[in-house]
Amino acid sequence: MKGIILAGGKGTRLYPMTKAVSKQLLPIYDKPLVYYPLSILLLAGIKEILLISTPEDTPIYEKLLGDGSYIGVRITYKVQDTPRGLADAFILGEEFIGKDSVCLILGDNVFYGQDLSKTLWSAMKKVDESGGACIFGYPVKNAREFGVVEFNKEHKVVSIEEKPEKPKSHYAVPGLYFYDNQVIEIAKNVKPSARGEIEITAVNNAYLEAGALHVQLLGRGVAWLDTGSPEGMLKAAEFVEAVQSRQGFYVSCIEEIAWRRGFITTEQLQVIGTELKMTAYGQYLLELTGGSANV
Ligand code: DAU
Repeated sequence: MKGIILAGGKGTRLYPMTKAVSKQLLPIYDKPLVYYPLSILLLAGIKEILLISTPEDTPIYEKLLGDGSYIGVRITYKVQDTPRGLADAFILGEEFIGKDSVCLILGDNVFYGQDLSKTLWSAMKKVDESGGACIFGYPVKNAREFGVVEFNKEHKVVSIEEKPEKPKSHYAVPGLYFYDNQVIEIAKNVKPSARGEIEITAVNNAYLEAGALHVQLLGRGVAWLDTGSPEGMLKAAEFVEAVQSRQGFYVSCIEEIAWRRGFITTEQLQVIGTELKMTAYGQYLLELTGGSANV
């Protein structure tokens, strides 16, 4: 399975913060926002990654992440010249996806929690063995701001609505999606919505109509944090700080995950840690190489 991170968009809802800087490069506590979705792909064991961003910002992501070899993966880049919508990821990514299945994660989505790796693996397994799509449902208080899952009395999914005025449930669809290879053709046939975007929700509804959409509900053990507002970003940063300072384990440390997954050796981690040794982040990496406890 391949992985795509969508990290473009204008970020207008966060102006003036994002007037000159891409939203997904802003920090959440001690690391750029894009590290969080990247860490999810690494946790899933995905090693071939395409990052899509704007013409202005793509070179900055390249500066930050390079070709991915320092964390043992392959990262390539594609420019989206205008924010046409989330489904554009599969059209822009057609050549990259090739004949594979694909996981799309939005560059501004932060996840953390117990058993997240198992959840990711089971979604990948479902799509790779049986085809179709696997997405998630997560309870939120402000469902109107997201794609929302509607269930019937038998708890079967009957529709997904994008930012409904009157949400039919409080289950939002987070920006993490697993699809078989048909997603490319499905995306090409999506018509722009009223707001002029080719919506991921239309892709999900196409799978639903074909009887090939699996919606897995995420429970209380998983945190899906909102970064759509200054308050959301501050709360996400506070969450990361609280977990890290209490447990001593870092949240979404891409170098640590790459090392634990066996993508890089202890010696390689040591080199990265040494380069960053003037920071708490670098010291943490160096402590890991000294044989810290496994999680
Ligand atoms: O976060 C989950 C939600 O993401 C879902 O519940 C919604 O169904 C889905 O439509 C999406 O809603 P948003 O309104 O949050 O999407 P937004 O336009 O903010 O874009 C999400 C990310 O994707 C953001 O980091 C910018 C980037 N983006 C967006 C568009 C439309 C692109 O890179 N290119 C694009 O064309």
